[in-house]
Amino acid sequence: MGAEKSLNTGLAATIREGRGTTSKGTGASLKQEAEIRTKGSSLEAASGSATASAGDSPYIQVDRALKRCQYSQDALIEILHTAQETFGFLGEDTLTYIAHELKLPLSWVYGVASFYHHFNLKPQGEHSCNICMGTACFVKRAGEIVAAMEREFCVKAGETTADGKLSINIVRCLGNCGLAPMVIMDGKVHSRQTSESLLEECRKVLKG
Ligand code: FES
Repeated sequence: MGAEKSLNTGLAATIREGRGTTSKGTGASLKQEAEIRTKGSSLEAASGSATASAGDSPYIQVDRALKRCQYSQDALIEILHTAQETFGFLGEDTLTYIAHELKLPLSWVYGVASFYHHFNLKPQGEHSCNICMGTACFVKRAGEIVAAMEREFCVKAGETTADGKLSINIVRCLGNCGLAPMVIMDGKVHSRQTSESLLEECRKVLKG
C-alpha cells in the first residue's frame, strides 16, 4: 500500500507509453538517455551515496552488480538493492536502466520495486518512518497513527518533510500481525504502537 502511495507518476506515465521496451532498436538510445538524464538529476546524485568519480557512469556500482550476477533476470532484486544503496532510492532513470540491462519490461521491474516496502521510489529524508496499514494494523487503528504523524510533522504520508528530515511511508503487512500496529523507524521495528508512543519515538530520533 505504501509503495502504491509513493507511485512515481512520471514513471507510471512512462510505462503507459511503453518505454519499457527492450527491443534492440531502442536499447542503445534508452541507455544513453538514462545516463544523460541521471547525470542531470542533481536530486538523485545528492541523495545517493554513489562513489563514482567525475566522468564515470553513475551506474558503475549497478554495472558491477549486473556483471557479478551475469545479467541474470533472476538477480533483479539484488540489482535493485544495489541501486538503492547507491542512489538512496529507485528513480525512473534507474529502473529504466536496469530494465534495459536485464532485458526485462520496465513494467515488470517497476512492479517488483513497488511491491516490496524495502524499495523507495522517491528520495527519502534523513529518517524514515514506515507505518504498516495491512489489515491487522488497520483494524488496530494504524490510520489514527498516520493521521497523528501527518499533523505533528506537517507532511502527508508518502512524502518527506520540507526540511528533508523525515519521510513517512505507508507499507503493506510487515509479517508480524500479532504485534499490530507495527512500525519500522530507521530500520528498527516497533510493535504495538500508539499515536503517542510513535510521536515520542519520532521526536527523540529527530532530536538525535
Ligand atoms: S498487518 Fe501490519 S504487520 Fe501484518
